Amino acid sequence: MTLYGVGLGPGDADLVTVRGRRVLEAADVVYSPGRLSRSVAAEYVPEDRIGDVDFPMTHDEDELRRAWKEAAAEIAPRARDGTAAFVTLGDPNVYSTFGHLRRTLSAFHPAVDVDVVPGVSAVTAFTTALGVEIASGASVALREAARGAAPTGPDRMVLFKVTDVPTTHERLTDAGYDVVYGRRLYMEQGETVVTDDPETLSERDYYTLAYAERRGVDSEPATATFDDRTREGRSDGGTATTDGGPRDASELERGRTASRPPTAVEREEIAEGEACGDETAEGPSR
Ligand SMILES: C[S@@+](CC[C@H](N)C(=O)[O-])C[C@H]1O[C@@H](n2cnc3c(N)ncnc32)[C@H](O)[C@@H]1O
Repeated sequence: MTLYGVGLGPGDADLVTVRGRRVLEAADVVYSPGRLSRSVAAEYVPEDRIGDVDFPMTHDEDELRRAWKEAAAEIAPRARDGTAAFVTLGDPNVYSTFGHLRRTLSAFHPAVDVDVVPGVSAVTAFTTALGVEIASGASVALREAARGAAPTGPDRMVLFKVTDVPTTHERLTDAGYDVVYGRRLYMEQGETVVTDDPETLSERDYYTLAYAERRGVDSEPATATFDDRTREGRSDGGTATTDGGPRDASELERGRTASRPPTAVEREEIAEGEACGDETAEGPSR
């Protein structure tokens, strides 16, 4: 039948999606690749339906391929004869072991259908936990920063695997970034920490991420001007500032009238964007 890859979210059991929970409760067997994902799955699945799959802590590709072949050989018959699930923290398609399983099944057990239930990824959950807003039109890059690495370049970065916070911090601040860290966000297991003080996080913990923003990046959305108006007691006019730089209302209007009217397809896209809450202002992405 089917193997479901189920994203469990960042760790709190009530951040498992309704669909994810339904699949877990109905599956004949639920495989977990780690202790943390097992403890989340165990909130919805009795212990006797949880199977463990072990993977060697190695970068040796032959050894990894062997381990995934073994795991696929164990899981495939259960997924063929019934319904099986494989859980991962966050989303199964973001920096996840699930991709290895999907590829190995497709190579050696093509009769197994694979379906994915997306999960709340740390890539998005960090915004709320860290009080960050990625405004419409802003670009964000996802990078790894293991063992003190400090990738630079993009204006805004989400950094995973920040295992040496003090070293990464020193390098990023030297390169002109403001950085804030989140450890064990939305995770029942262990203490949640949100800080911009690297010393607080000098102990290594794999479940640590960072958000780095280049100092001086202008990211004031138009509605930020409401604050100024409230302070100044104004209710009209004023300069609207966007992530792309300051603009006044006449400049915005000129831009709109100078460009051609939207085509039918573009109008449909704009309507779809509005329907899902997107801002519809067009312009180059940053
Ligand atoms: C291999 S990636 C897994 C990402 C996961 N599939 C997802 O979508 O969130 C692991 C990295 O994600 C980040 N991470 C995942 N969950 C986290 C959490 N609850 N709190 C902080 N960082 C987390 C950490 O940087 C960790 O090193």
